[in-house]
Amino acid sequence: MNVYFAPLQGFTEAAYRNAHAEVFGGVDAYFSPFVRLEKGEARAKDIRDVAPENNSVPVLVPQVIAASADELRSVAALVRDMGYKWVDINLGCPFPIIVKKRKGCGLLPYPDDLRDMLRVVREMPDLSFSVKMRLGLNSENEAMDVLPLLNDLPLRQIVLHPRLGVQQYKGSVDLEAFGRFYSKCEKPLVYNGDIACADDAARVQRLFPDLSGLMLGRGLLANPGLANELKGGVPLTELERRKKELELHDVLFRTFSERLCGDVQVLAKIKPFWEYFMPYVEKNVRKKIVKASTVEKYKEAVRLL
Ligand SMILES: Cc1cc2nc3c(=O)[nH]c(=O)nc-3n(C[C@H](O)[C@H](O)[C@H](O)COP(=O)(O)O)c2cc1C
Repeated sequence: MNVYFAPLQGFTEAAYRNAHAEVFGGVDAYFSPFVRLEKGEARAKDIRDVAPENNSVPVLVPQVIAASADELRSVAALVRDMGYKWVDINLGCPFPIIVKKRKGCGLLPYPDDLRDMLRVVREMPDLSFSVKMRLGLNSENEAMDVLPLLNDLPLRQIVLHPRLGVQQYKGSVDLEAFGRFYSKCEKPLVYNGDIACADDAARVQRLFPDLSGLMLGRGLLANPGLANELKGGVPLTELERRKKELELHDVLFRTFSERLCGDVQVLAKIKPFWEYFMPYVEKNVRKKIVKASTVEKYKEAVRLL
């Protein structure tokens, strides 16, 4: 069973992926947050994030997002020219600004446009393409409607997150709808969504024994040792877990401190991790960490852990 780290814009960028691989590992491939074109050009920030010289994880799969064949061709060529052989196409992003441009899950209600964009998969046989998608923007029928098209393409795998775009991240995952897709899907299929512990993973595997992998996002941010555990590693004791998580934090904090200029920038980058990280930390300590107004105060609060 493959275990993948989901792309999480603002969280799993190069600094975090490298730190996670160094301290924990257990992940078969890390997926980057999506690389996009703006006015025909890739953003410098996105390029830096996937540039091989900034990445030290064993396998990185750059994810791209596009609304047309031209866009997909350009952005896929960009990562191919960096030396990547596997590119993931985002068909799941639910943010209104993206959906309005018919990107992410905004393309799922338009099978003809999707077919047209995905011609590129055949045009670039030197690249292996996968897709990461939702059930649809408005209805699960959308995924079922585009499945014959996906089955016909030489895709490496499909990752399905069984929520609708309109749900964003709210409500529960729809395992029944996932099951309908699973039973008709002819490509290696990966489950993604709300896996927070080994029991959640076991339940999904019991329901869908032919899955080729699991992709973990927020659950892995909260419990960075979970991938190791799913790969058969011995679960960490509470003490070991806390120690390794602090090590991960310290590597990440050091990287941000070296790369960014000034307290404001460093704090703006590190604080969001506490939304998911070390969920067992006492409330008052967490509050001190996220309210810290200077790096000194922040470090003082972290020392309380
Ligand atoms: C803050 C945030 C950023 C995300 N960024 C991306 C992204 O760049 N590309 C993508 O395919 N999915 C993105 N996702 C979706 C996740 O990859 C994943 O599909 C979703 O969180 C469900 O999995 P989980 O419950 O294991 O977190 C993002 C989700 C969150 C919460």
